[in-house]
Order: sequence, then structure tokens, then C-alpha cells
Amino acid sequence: MPERPQIVVAKGGFLAETYRTSGLTGCLRKIGAALSMNLPLWFIGRRTNRSVGAYFDLITDDARLFYGDCFHFGYFKAGTEGFAEALAAHTDLVGEMARLDHQKKVLDIGCGIGAPAIQLAKQYGCSILGVNISGEQVRQGRELVAKSGLSNKITISEGNALALTATDSSIDSILCLEVAGDICVTKEQKTKLIDEMYRVLKPGGSIGFSDLVFTGKPSMDEEKAMRMILYHSGAELVTDWPALFEKRGFVIQEKRNILPQTMKTWDHTVAIYEERAAEVDERYGKAIANKTRRYLREIPKILQKYAAFPVLSIQKPLLV
Ligand SMILES: C[S@@+](CC[C@H](N)C(=O)[O-])C[C@H]1O[C@@H](n2cnc3c(N)ncnc32)[C@H](O)[C@@H]1O
Repeated sequence: MPERPQIVVAKGGFLAETYRTSGLTGCLRKIGAALSMNLPLWFIGRRTNRSVGAYFDLITDDARLFYGDCFHFGYFKAGTEGFAEALAAHTDLVGEMARLDHQKKVLDIGCGIGAPAIQLAKQYGCSILGVNISGEQVRQGRELVAKSGLSNKITISEGNALALTATDSSIDSILCLEVAGDICVTKEQKTKLIDEMYRVLKPGGSIGFSDLVFTGKPSMDEEKAMRMILYHSGAELVTDWPALFEKRGFVIQEKRNILPQTMKTWDHTVAIYEERAAEVDERYGKAIANKTRRYLREIPKILQKYAAFPVLSIQKPLLV
């Protein structure tokens, strides 16, 4: 089971920093997000779509401070690249799987703060509609897009990927970049998400997909580490995505497992927490910082034991 909301028990500078940058309103917003993120776990024992949004509302400032603007694992293709390069390579790979080009109207579901959309719109010249359930990420995403000078190409809207506002067969390509496990908090939602993508995609259109999945169920202790670091339970991530897509009538055109090439993400994450230990201790308080560092070191062992990271190119057939 989850722990008490960390923001509420944190004795460090977390709220002090928020107070400095966003005042009392910012602090109240973060406390509200911490409660919204944890209440469903206490009362119904699992996440809800709203609590996932609240989780991203809460962590976005800190994630940007420590890791940058991408909310996904790095793809260390050669093994020698830096963290930023590996994060960009993951976006690049999913863009390739979505078969992008300059004429395409692209939907990026669970678009983070728009960093992948900015990278791909620059690279391909396509137009991208980002959808995100986290109001805070939408706000920061719009700022980032405006700063990039790509407001004519990229639009970010608040919304739920399980109830898209796009009309039937109106989208050429979909980016589903490390989000499916965040979007789907129940088994039924996995089918719902695939149905929504099928509905909005034009016949012949492609999806670039990547996500962490589990192939076995972790122990209770392992689940504790997963919840604390990733706000997921491993059990929720047990999914055969290719089989679900095929069942709906999609065709899997390409399939890879990049888990081994993502594992260095954890070396980088642990290194950031160690190199910036004083700042981390000050921000969250020593007790939470130590627990986070301990659980962080457990995550790669858990992933090696149970996980895979499929990257897929999926097509809606031309004749449906
Ligand atoms: C792991 S992050 C990946 C973000 C982005 N694709 C990237 O790679 O930087 C997951 C994202 O999915 C969003 N999300 C979660 N549930 C969602 C839902 N039901 N509808 C839309 N977005 C959702 C989160 O707010 C977050 O931005």
C-alpha cells in the first residue's frame, strides 16, 4: 500500500521553494494534488485517471528540475550517449514508428509538456495536437511550445485520451510515447484506449507506440518501490499490447523490445540523486530523500526480473 503523501510530511524545502516561485496558491495547489493522488490509493486501493493527472501536476516542477523536459526513459542505442541524447533518441524512435512526414496531422496522446512534439515538429514539419490530463503539464507545455516558436504547428489541450475529442478518421498518425500504462488504470481501459485510437485514426494511418510492461507480478516489497518511484504497480503493467491491437483489427508492422537499451536511465537517475544529494535532502527532508534513493536502486533489479519495453509500429488497415 502507498505511503502517506510525501509532500505533506516533507520537512525540507519542497513547499518553501514552491512558495518562493508560486506563492500560497501554488503551495495549496500542490497539497491538493498530493491528496488527490493518494486518496484513491487509500480508499479503493488503486489509481484513477484523475489521480494520475494529479500525480503529474505534482511532480512536473521537480522532474523538470532534475531530469529536463521529457517524461520518459532514455533509449541508449549505442550505450555511450548522454542522458539528454538518449531521451531524444526515444522520441525519435517513436516518431519513426508513427511514420511521420511533413503533411501529417499527428495526435500525441499523453503529451507531457510537449517536448517530444517540439522535437518531432522541428524534425518533420508536421502539425501536432497534444492531449494531456494534467492541467499543470498543459499549462507548462503551452509555455514551452510558445518559447520554441512552434505555436503555429503544435496545440496542447487538456483532455482524457480515453474520450478523445478528435472526430472519426481525422488523424494521420498517433504518438503513444510511454503513456499507455499511465492512461489505463483498469484492464477495460486498455481496450477502450485502443478503440479510441482506432476510431480517430484514418485508414492506413500509423501509431508509434512505446511503453514499459511487466511479464510477471512483483512481490509486495517490490510493488512498494514501484509505487514510490513510478506511481505504478507492476501488476497493472502486465499487458500484451500487440495482441490487444491485433484483436481490434490493427496490423503490427514492426516490433522491438528496447528494455536493455533503457536500463542506463536508472544509472543516470541514481547519479543525479547522488550528485545533487544536498539539494535533494534540503528539498524533501533526509528521511524521504534516503528512502527515495534506496527504492531507486531497487527499480532496475525489479525491471530486469519482470519487465519488457515494447516499441511498436502499428497500422490501421487501408480497407476497413
Ligand atoms: C510518462 S508521461 C509521458 C509524457 C510524454 N509522452 C513524454 O514522453 O514526455 C505520461 C503522460 O501521460 C499523461 N496522461 C496520463 N493519463 C492520461 C489520460 N487519461 N489522458 C491523457 N493524458 C494522460 C500524463 O499527464 C503524462 O503527461
